[in-house]
Amino acid sequence: ASAYPFFGAHQAGIVTPAQDRLHFAAFDVASTLDRTGLIELLTEWTDAAARLTQGLEVEEGGAVGGSDYAPPADTGEALGLPASGLTITFGFGPGLFTDASGADRFGLAARRPAALESLPRFQGDALQPERSGGDLCIQACADDPQVAVHAIRNLSRIAFGRATLRWSQLGFGRTSSTSTAQATPRNLFGFKDGTANLKAEDGSALDDHVWVQSADGPAWLAGGSFLVARRIRMIIENWDRVQLGEQEQLVGRSKGEGAPLSGGTEFTEPDFEATGATGTPLIDTKAHVRLAHHSSNGGARMLRRGYNFVDGNDELGRLDAGLFFLSYQRSPEQFIAVQRSLAADGLNEYLKHVGSAIFAVPAGVREGEYVGQALF
Ligand code: HEM
Repeated sequence: ASAYPFFGAHQAGIVTPAQDRLHFAAFDVASTLDRTGLIELLTEWTDAAARLTQGLEVEEGGAVGGSDYAPPADTGEALGLPASGLTITFGFGPGLFTDASGADRFGLAARRPAALESLPRFQGDALQPERSGGDLCIQACADDPQVAVHAIRNLSRIAFGRATLRWSQLGFGRTSSTSTAQATPRNLFGFKDGTANLKAEDGSALDDHVWVQSADGPAWLAGGSFLVARRIRMIIENWDRVQLGEQEQLVGRSKGEGAPLSGGTEFTEPDFEATGATGTPLIDTKAHVRLAHHSSNGGARMLRRGYNFVDGNDELGRLDAGLFFLSYQRSPEQFIAVQRSLAADGLNEYLKHVGSAIFAVPAGVREGEYVGQALF
């Protein structure tokens, strides 16, 4: 039930130890919104987020302290709940810089990061437009789902008439650890997820792989990051019929310990050269960890921060379940390189990417400023 500072050099919610719950929301800006209105929205979102992350209401006396004759400024369902480790992280989608018709509505086109464009089509993509894209995003993470939902609900409410919710996703059971102090959680395939992740303690590796550096350009994004979101459906009914040994071969790690199949314990580096008695590689050539490893991808790494999801079931009685994959990287190229390499991944038989979005996440906010102020 701790509170993380909202203000800082980087936005919270990236290297912050991954909380247990997620509510992620992508917004479309209204066609009537102009530059001044956008700045006002970001200012109001910043003020509200700074309070919410400290366990406060949207405004002083927000839920029940106001007039009997006006709707309350805060919706009230987080009254009495602590901050619960809430972090609120804002991002800007490609459409904020130039809209679908190519118009530069906010005078930002010249400042668009060159790499901020819709991701290329990947083999096997089955993307649904209504679960993809967005001009703005908010990632709310907390250890209490009610606190995360309260944050997204109230920020959506503040945006009324200026930005509308395009899609949103709830997540539970974080699928990544982002600090060495955390035990590695498991995804819905039952495997430890996050073992070889970049972590808060990785220091200079974060500058190399997560934070946009001043020299990268554009200047306003220095200290920020690129966020990729992918809603990955898991065909768990098929997966649950796969033999344990084959499940482990597909991942390249043991299911219990999470150790690489080349030997050792969870945090032993995988040895992709190691072969068994018959000369076959101990970590299969199609294993997820081999293809995702930086040695297969020109050194590309990323900070994964995804969550499990189960959104009910379909008419055939199959759970609509999977992994809401979130990764932060210094350039989208890192994600693109790894995702292209994963075209050969044996796991793909059990996966379907149905949602996709990309956002530029500005650096942290200084007190008295609004999020992304350097852009304007
Ligand atoms: C590692 C599962 C999608 C990138 C792993 C591991 C598991 C796993 C079990 C090993 C433990 C670990 O180091 O975290 C999954 C599942 C996915 C999925 C079930 C889909 C539902 C992706 C995607 C990407 C990705 C879309 C990026 C394009 C990575 C990376 C590693 C990894 C970079 C670390 C590899 C290493 O350095 O050893 N994943 N993953 N994964 N995954 Fe995934």
